[in-house]
Order: sequence, then C-alpha cells, then structure tokens
Amino acid sequence: MATGKWTAEQIPSQAGKTALITGANSGIGYQAALELARHGAHVLLGCRNEAKGRAALERLLREAPGASAEVVPLDMASLASIRAFAASFIGRGIALDLLINNAGVMALPKRELTEDGFERQFGTNHLGHFALTGLLLPALLAAPAPRVVTVASLAHRTGKIDFDNLQRERGYEGWDAYNASKLANILFAKELDRRARAAHSRLLSLAVHPGVSTTSIFENGPGTTNLKAIMVKLLAPVMMQNDEAGALPTLYAATSPDAKGGEYIGPDGFGELKGAPVVVQPRPQALDVAVGERLWTVSEDLTGVHYPALS
Ligand SMILES: NC(=O)c1ccc[n+]([C@@H]2O[C@H](COP(=O)([O-])OP(=O)(O)OC[C@H]3O[C@@H](n4cnc5c(N)ncnc54)[C@H](OP(=O)(O)O)[C@@H]3O)[C@@H](O)[C@H]2O)c1
Repeated sequence: MATGKWTAEQIPSQAGKTALITGANSGIGYQAALELARHGAHVLLGCRNEAKGRAALERLLREAPGASAEVVPLDMASLASIRAFAASFIGRGIALDLLINNAGVMALPKRELTEDGFERQFGTNHLGHFALTGLLLPALLAAPAPRVVTVASLAHRTGKIDFDNLQRERGYEGWDAYNASKLANILFAKELDRRARAAHSRLLSLAVHPGVSTTSIFENGPGTTNLKAIMVKLLAPVMMQNDEAGALPTLYAATSPDAKGGEYIGPDGFGELKGAPVVVQPRPQALDVAVGERLWTVSEDLTGVHYPALS
C-alpha cells in the first residue's frame, strides 16, 4: 500500500468502466456510487425501491453534474428480482468492471423471511449477493480487470456459521443473525478470490468494512429504542465517522492499484472504528477455509446459482 492516508482523491480515472452498487440509494452505497461516478465510471444504482432510487439518482446528478448513472431495479431479498436484473444486464452484452456487494439489513428485532423463505439477514446480506455475483460472473470475466467488493462488518467478530440452523428457526436473535451474515460476507469474498486464483482469472475479490458509520441502517434495523442502538447514538460523535468516510474502504478496494485479491480493508483508527482505509485482519473464523468451502456449497444449493467458470 502506498504511504500516507488514502483518500477519494487518489481514485484513478474510472472512465470506460461500468460499476454496479447494490443498496446504492443511501449511506455507504450512495457515497461509493457518487465517487465512482465522479471519477468517470458509468454507475448502476441497484435499488429495491424505485422512488428512493430516483431520488438518489437526482441527488447524484446534482452532486456530480455530467456523471453517467442509472437506477436499476434490484431487490437482494428476492432471487426472482436478482435473476431478472442479471438476465437483463447480461443481455446488454457489456462487461461489468466493478460489483460492489453493499446492500444490507441489520439486527432485525423479529425473525423475518425473504420471499424465498430465507432468514432476511442471511438471505439479503449473503445469499442474495452470492446469487448476484454468480449470475453476473460472465459479464465480470469479460472485463479486463474485474473486481468484486463485498461489504462486511466489525460485527463478523462475534459471528458464527451454524450450518444446522442457517435460517434461524431456533433461538432467533437479531444481532446473532446479523453477525453471522457479515461473517458469511468475508468467507464468501475470500472463497471467491481463492477460486479466481485457482482458475487463473484476473478477477479480484476483496472484503471491506466501514468501521461504524452514521447511516440509516440503525433506524431501519434494531430501531432507536434498542439498547445497542442507543449506546451507538450516544457514542456516535466520538466513535463514528460519516458515510463519506465509511465508503472509503469500499472505494480503496474497488479502485486502488495497490489492492490485492483476498484482502480485507477497514479503517486504521482505534478499534478500526474510523479512519483511513488499510489492510486489516478479520477474526480467525473468517479465515477458516473449510467453513468457506462448505458455505459456498450450501449457498449454491440454497440459491440454485453455480459458478461454472470458477468451479
Ligand atoms: N453503517 C455502519 O456502521 C456499518 C457498519 C458495518 C457494516 N455496514 C454495512 O454497510 C452496508 C451499507 O449499509 P449502510 O450503513 O450504508 O446503511 P443504509 O444507509 O441503511 O444502506 C443500506 C442499503 O441497503 C439497501 N437494502 C436493504 N435491503 C435491501 C434489499 N433487499 N434489496 C436491495 N437493497 C436493500 C437499503 O435500501 P432501502 O433504502 O430500500 O432500505 C439501503 O440502500 C451494509 O452491508 C452494512 O451491513 C455498515
């Protein structure tokens, strides 16, 4: 990694590149989309809510006049929506240079299911992105230097993949489900990178985490009356960074010539809560190759999506 703190000013020109960001209408996803567009990429804002998508696009075009961007319908809690988007993208016959697996829901107080019957956090945060990446793989592999960036979290540290209770039918607890889904994000990113290396592919896969960033994920997930959420709010001025700073690990992983496949990028400050992006180390359970391989196979079975080019 180059010396000095990495900032968005160091993003090289993205002219000629196409980037898809899931959950791009707010928070870290929006800020990542904005910077990629500012640096010349054509940006697809993957959004589940059409009105929010339109509002985000209008904001982006105000903040980056002349940028090239569009909203695409994409609900990460629906395999049908993911399949429909992937089919339409592949039908365009263009390469996908950057895929940012960013959309997420956090610590839902009650167990909810996706339309495919998956526990909503495992389904949205992990399985949806597993399916999307696999279905878009032909377009990614058509790019000269494709990258897949998957947004994980410090929360992976207390995550555990319980293969006998993946859908949390027994003993649901919102944070446990979130922590496991974020551990799954790192296991997936690393297994994808191992497979790309084994296939001598140019594709790089990295995991990132934004530290703790002031976004709407807290209100949308645990709500404002949850004890952890109240603590986070009280400590926000000291502990947290804004969404612009929270997007920097994503942007570094997506664009820096120094970034390497398999790396995990997060903020360099105390406890990795905030700061400039650097390579950081996940907990050992995120480095367990056997668990990563098993999660891959289970994810193939659950989604019906396979990666023939990287098998
Ligand atoms: N903020 C933090 O401190 C923090 C820390 C660690 C990790 N992260 C991770 O960062 C990522 C981005 O979160 P954020 O903090 O920027 O929160 P955010 O502002 O709430 O953004 C989350 C985005 O995901 C979208 N989304 C949720 N479910 C979706 C679905 N089924 N299909 C498509 N999009 C969906 C949301 O869309 P709607 O507006 O339609 O709900 C929103 O655009 C998440 O993966 C999160 O786990 C955040």
